[in-house]
Amino acid sequence: MKPLDRGIQIPDPAIVVQELCFNWPSGSKVLSSCSLNVPKGEFWMLLGSNGSGKSTLLRLLAGLLYPQSGQIHLEGRMGFVFQNPDHQLVMPTVGADVAFGLVEERLSQPQIRNRVDEALAAVNLLELKRRPIYALSGGQKQRIAIAGAIARNCEILLLDEPTALLDPDSQLELVTQVQSLVKNRGITALWVTHRLNELDYSDGAFLLERGLVVEQGNSEFLKKRLIKNSGDIKD
Ligand SMILES: Nc1ncnc2c1ncn2[C@@H]1O[C@H](COP(=O)(O)OP(=O)(O)OP(=O)(O)O)[C@@H](O)[C@H]1O
Ligand SMILES: [Mg+2]
Repeated sequence: MKPLDRGIQIPDPAIVVQELCFNWPSGSKVLSSCSLNVPKGEFWMLLGSNGSGKSTLLRLLAGLLYPQSGQIHLEGRMGFVFQNPDHQLVMPTVGADVAFGLVEERLSQPQIRNRVDEALAAVNLLELKRRPIYALSGGQKQRIAIAGAIARNCEILLLDEPTALLDPDSQLELVTQVQSLVKNRGITALWVTHRLNELDYSDGAFLLERGLVVEQGNSEFLKKRLIKNSGDIKD
């Protein structure tokens, strides 16, 4: 498969990755000259077989890892949503958890309340504000994690297989929720998935192979391409 033509220009990107290279300390190479752009205010997905480097790329974008070379530019504040929300939610209740992310901003109590309420309303979970975290479904936990990012005024959402642990109904609810946040709030989202049915909600998707973007396009194009080529990616 030929690498992506680097001549492609995307107007006004919110996420820019250029010629990114990353090796683990053992020397094993994960990303080799990986480049991609996500247009501002769009919902893009990242697909690829197990071990192709999707999570590593997201962690590099989030600043949790550092590349050996290459450039990353994010236009705006970034929020990260993990595959397992139990690794992310740290406070005992929904409201406290969303407020926890605001600690550094030194806001007044009314300002915090407004931000928390607005963020919970954005994910349609305001009525769960006082609910203990342990009494939420997996999909609700993921939406609380997204509310945390919205409360911090994040303009970019990075989501690493956020539906991997969800049942089909919660999966659909989460993907449509993110789609509407992107459309209604101008958020830019990059969503890692193995599930082809989620592609239908995206504006476009990248296919990563051995640490390189080898294809990009809309849902129809990528689905045809994957069905033809991959036994590893499942619907
Ligand atoms: N902490 C680590 N130390 C060393 N190697 C690692 C570490 N984390 C991941 N790797 C290796 O880096 C490569 C890329 O892993 P990564 O988790 O980015 O893949 P992925 O595309 O997210 O796969 P999956 O679809 O299974 O989630 C793999 O070969 C993996 O074994
Ligand atoms: Mg992964």
